[in-house]
Amino acid sequence: MSKFLITSALPYVNGVKHLGNLAGSLLPADIHARFRRQTGHDVLFLCGTDEHGTPVELAAHAAGVPVADYCARQHAVQADIYRRFGLSFDHFSRTSGEANRRLTQEIFRCLDAAGFIEERTILQAYSPTDRRFLPDRYVVGTCPYCGHPNARGDQCESCTALLDPEDLRSPRSAISGATDVEFRATRHLFFRLSAFDGRLRDWLATRRDWPPLVRSIARKWLDEGLRDRCITRDLEWGVPVPKAGFEDKVFYVWFDAPIGYIAAAIEWSEAPSRDWRDWWQSGEDVSYVQFLAKDNVPFHAVSFPATLLGSGLPFRLVDTIKGFNWLTFGGGKFSTSAARGIFTDTALALLPADTWRWWLAANAPETADTDFTVTRFVDGVNKDLADIFGNLVNRCLAFANARFDGTVPEAGDTGPLEHQLVRSLDTHLARLRRHHESLALRKAADEVRAIWRLANAYLAEAAPWSAIRNDTGRAATIVNTAINLVRVSALVAWPFIPSSAEKVLCSLGEAADLVAWPQRGRSTLSAIPAGRRIAVPPLLFPKIAVADLQHCPSGWNQPDG
Ligand code: MF3
Ligand code: ZN
Repeated sequence: MSKFLITSALPYVNGVKHLGNLAGSLLPADIHARFRRQTGHDVLFLCGTDEHGTPVELAAHAAGVPVADYCARQHAVQADIYRRFGLSFDHFSRTSGEANRRLTQEIFRCLDAAGFIEERTILQAYSPTDRRFLPDRYVVGTCPYCGHPNARGDQCESCTALLDPEDLRSPRSAISGATDVEFRATRHLFFRLSAFDGRLRDWLATRRDWPPLVRSIARKWLDEGLRDRCITRDLEWGVPVPKAGFEDKVFYVWFDAPIGYIAAAIEWSEAPSRDWRDWWQSGEDVSYVQFLAKDNVPFHAVSFPATLLGSGLPFRLVDTIKGFNWLTFGGGKFSTSAARGIFTDTALALLPADTWRWWLAANAPETADTDFTVTRFVDGVNKDLADIFGNLVNRCLAFANARFDGTVPEAGDTGPLEHQLVRSLDTHLARLRRHHESLALRKAADEVRAIWRLANAYLAEAAPWSAIRNDTGRAATIVNTAINLVRVSALVAWPFIPSSAEKVLCSLGEAADLVAWPQRGRSTLSAIPAGRRIAVPPLLFPKIAVADLQHCPSGWNQPDG
C-alpha cells in the first residue's frame, strides 16, 4: 500500500463556480481519490477556497459586506455544493485561515534569508478618486496597437497584445471609471524566479511522465526566460508581508494560494493521530498528484515548485500534474463574470449530481476542449446511464425478484459462456485500472461503460427468461452470475457515480462503506453468497429530456457573488 496526496486547484471564493470548474479539476481529482481508496491506498485529498486577490475584495464591496464575512459565507456556500456533488475531500480549507498565513510568512522569511527576495521600486497606477493602487487589470483604456477602447492594463482582449498599464491611452479606473489615474513610485518585493532556471530544468527533466499539455506549457515558460515576479500588493485583504517597510502590503494571491495546499494538511492534522508531515515531508512512499486547468499550469509547474525549492524547507514537490483544457458552453466560453453557462448550484437543482458527474467525466476536456450542449448531454446520459447501466440493474434484479423470490439463487456448473465472461471481465478490469493509474479519465469512463455493456450482453445471450422454462438450474446459474455482474458494474461505477453505485450495492445487501476494487478471475463472480435477500432499487436514472433542462426555475445563468 502506498500513499496518495491528491489536490484539486483551489476555486476562487467569489461566487458559485460553473460546470467548467467542476470538470477541469474538482471532479477528476475526486474520481482519482476514490479509485485510489478503492484499490486500498491511503489517500489524503485536499482542497479549499482561494480567498485573496482584488476580485474577491471587489465582490465583497459590491455585496456591501466586510471581506472576511463575505468569504466566510461564500466558502460555506461552495463547501455545501461540493458535498452535494459527492466530492470526497478529507479537508476543504480556506487560504485566509491562520495556518496558511503562518506558513506563507514562514516560507517568505526563508526565501528572504536565502537571498531570493529583492526590493524594487515600480510605477503603479493609483486612483485618487478610489484612494487606492490599481492592479494592472483594473486599469482600462485605449489600446496603443489597435485602438480598442476597453483594453485592460495587462492585455488587450481585442488584439491580444500584452500591455503594461502605462501603455494605455486615456487610462481610467475599472473600479469607478475615474480618469484621474496617475502613476506613482512604490516599493515592492520581487521573488527572484529567474534564479531557478537550472534547478527547475533539472527537476522537470525527471518528470518524464507528465501529460504533454502540462510539459509543453512548463517548457514554454522556461524557454521564454523566467521573469522575477512581484509578490506583494497594495491591498488590505491578504496575508500581511512580515518585513519592515512593507507592513501595509499583502502577498500576491498566487504566492499564498498554493501554499494553501500544505496549510490544508496542517488543519486536517489538528485531529488526533494525524500528522501532515507524513504527507508533505516524508520520504518516498507518497505520490503527489495535482489536478488543475491549463491556465494554472505555470503556477504549479514553475513558480510554486521554485517557491518551495527556494525556501530550503523539506516540502514534497508534485509528482504528477494532470492539466485540463476548457469545457466550453454551446461553442463559447463558460464565464463567471458574464454569467454564461450552467453553474454548479443550478445544476444540482436540475438533476442529481451523478448525472452531471458521469457526463463531465466521460467527456472530460482532456486532450482538447469539450463543448457542452444540452442535446449532447441529454443523449449521453440517457444512453449510458438509463439504457446501459440502469437497464442492466433493473432487468437483472427485477427478474431475480420475480422468479427467485428476491433471493440470490445457488449457481450450478458454469459453462463456456461464463468462462468467456470471466476472461473478458479480467481484461476490462485490468485495462480500467491502467487508465485510472495513468489518469486517463475518458478512457476509464469508456472502460466502465464497456463493462456495463459486457454485463448486458451476457444477460441477453444467456437469456435466463428462456432458460427458466425448461432448465431452472441453468437459469439459477445465470441469475447468480448476473447479480454478481451487477455488483462488479456498481463497484467500477463508484468513483464516477458514487451515490447511484451505493444504492445498487445496498440493494444487493453489500456494505456501501467499503467499495473495494473487484477481485480477479472466477471469484469476482461469486462474491455474493447464494441465499442472500436482494431488493430491486427504485428507478435509478429516469430518462431526461431537453425540456427538463430548460424549465429550470432559477434559469441557466447566475450573476456573480
Ligand atoms: N483560484 C485559482 C483559479 O481558480 C486556482 C488556485 S490553485 C492554488 O484559477 F494552488 F493556487 F491554490
Ligand atoms: Zn489592441
